[in-house]
Amino acid sequence: MSAYEYETHDYDVVVVGAGGAGLRATLGMAEQGLRTACVTKVFPTRSHTVAAQGGIAASLGNMGPDNWQWHMYDTVKGSDWLGDTDAMEYLAREAPKAVYELEHYGVPFSRTEEGNIYQRPFGGHTTEFGEGPPVQRTCAAADRTGHAILHTLYGQSLKQKAEFFVEYFAIDLIMSDEGACTGVVCWKLDDGSIHVFNAKSVVLATGGYGRAYFNCTSAHTCTGDGGGMVARAGLPLQDMEFVQFHPTGVYGPGMLITEGARGEGGYLTNSEGERFMERYAPTYKDLAPRDYVSRSMTIEIREGRGVGPNKDHIHLNLSHLPPEALQLRLPGISETAKIFADVDVTKEPIPVLPTVHYNMGGIPTNYWGEVLNPTADDPNAVVPGLMAVGEAACASVHGANRLGSNSLIDLVVFGRAAAIRAGKVVDAEAAVPETNKAQVDKALDRFDTLRHADGAVPTAELRLEMQRTMQEDAAVFRTDETLADGVKKMKGVAAKLGDLRVTDRSLVWNSDLMETLELANLMPNALATIFGAEARKESRGAHASEDHPDRDDKNWRVHTIARVAGTGVDLGYRPVIADPLTSEDAGGISVKTIAPKARTF
Ligand code: FUM
Repeated sequence: MSAYEYETHDYDVVVVGAGGAGLRATLGMAEQGLRTACVTKVFPTRSHTVAAQGGIAASLGNMGPDNWQWHMYDTVKGSDWLGDTDAMEYLAREAPKAVYELEHYGVPFSRTEEGNIYQRPFGGHTTEFGEGPPVQRTCAAADRTGHAILHTLYGQSLKQKAEFFVEYFAIDLIMSDEGACTGVVCWKLDDGSIHVFNAKSVVLATGGYGRAYFNCTSAHTCTGDGGGMVARAGLPLQDMEFVQFHPTGVYGPGMLITEGARGEGGYLTNSEGERFMERYAPTYKDLAPRDYVSRSMTIEIREGRGVGPNKDHIHLNLSHLPPEALQLRLPGISETAKIFADVDVTKEPIPVLPTVHYNMGGIPTNYWGEVLNPTADDPNAVVPGLMAVGEAACASVHGANRLGSNSLIDLVVFGRAAAIRAGKVVDAEAAVPETNKAQVDKALDRFDTLRHADGAVPTAELRLEMQRTMQEDAAVFRTDETLADGVKKMKGVAAKLGDLRVTDRSLVWNSDLMETLELANLMPNALATIFGAEARKESRGAHASEDHPDRDDKNWRVHTIARVAGTGVDLGYRPVIADPLTSEDAGGISVKTIAPKARTF
């Protein structure tokens, strides 16, 4: 029996995480009268969604012709044909509805002269199934769209009487002996108490794991907590090798400069002042998808055309845009550029570099958010009682590469979908599952072991070693050699988790212990990433292998399923869902239109 006492709470649904996906799920659950708790390690409006800048994709057609079929096609092509087609259709079809709901909830979108929601161009979003000009599909609240959405959803969730448990750190899932999820064990950071939440459904909305890398746009809180808990529960992670580098992180500190900057007319130049994207993507130029632009920038730098004294970054030019447009549409990044690069965007270019930004991989789910545990008989087998949404999840709508502004729409469409599904499968009248005490003891034993860790390696030191290894060996371009080296190094790094030293033994505001728990969560995410990348012998989306430069649909149009145990990763594969939900006759998209082909821009 564990030495810790705990308080028990019973709910219909417990959502872990209060970013865009977590709040949209929480709101949707509470609106239906389900008793809903949202457990979050940071105050809801400090969740990383608050940093989302450029906007949310939906084919509203406010600025010109658009439709969900074009959006779906762009998403399929953007994913380099690795996304699940049913989920991508669901995303594109539901997107306008989800955005109008946000508008009605009160999100203060920027407006056109006519009073409609303002939409800007973003990379990879086109018309006419990739044959027409770029489309203005990204709905924006200036360059603070995530901020606007997060505050609105939090207010609406409170209005629906969802209950928030703020600054509670989720330690581990509670699974029943039959393999269903029945709750989560948490540590309350401000008083050190332990809390067990029993629930009929647990929704993981814990965000990405950008902090597995040294240089990223992600908040320090993006530590893959959901992925860590899932891996410890013996469940798999999916497609983790696909890590998105955003082309425009501020050189050095890595803060995001929105793609909306290029959407509003900004462009990249090399040391010769050349708009080099014209060579790599003659049609869409600076508005090609992120994997394309990041690779092009990296090639420019490698070939000696980087800017700055070390020729190691690129310039993003905005000074040709009218100052009033910058003030109206891009006020946030104008401020970011001043603070973090000492640049006045009306006069000088911003120094930028591809920076880790987003994890396409995550906890595998279907398009209702139900977590999958593929078996030989059923690649789409569902884990009862467990859902995942947002960046923590892999639905999979982004496949091998996500289009800019498809993240915010993923959060709200699938947060909403999870609530719709819970409305059907969670019986509000049924009894809440009883606490599986053995599982709670196991979680608290792990917690206690880390709290009293007395080894030789401080948490911060091991974290840095992991971050540097991932940055070096699982980068924009990868080779068989760097990846094999990375696998070897990461096994060594992960082994040191057993030799950690935590110096603060207290339970109240113990940031040393919290960072240690976070590191223990980052590690399986990082391991699955590097092992999956080493095994995938092709190039697809964000996985660019110099030794295997072509996409290989015959052998590799499959999802990687990674089960992490200790320092090892067991890899398996799951077929991509290639069929759309609706046929062309029913207003859908034809299978022929979305069939794989060369991905050029
Ligand atoms: O560039 C951006 O504003 C980021 C958007 C996104 O990742 O979707």
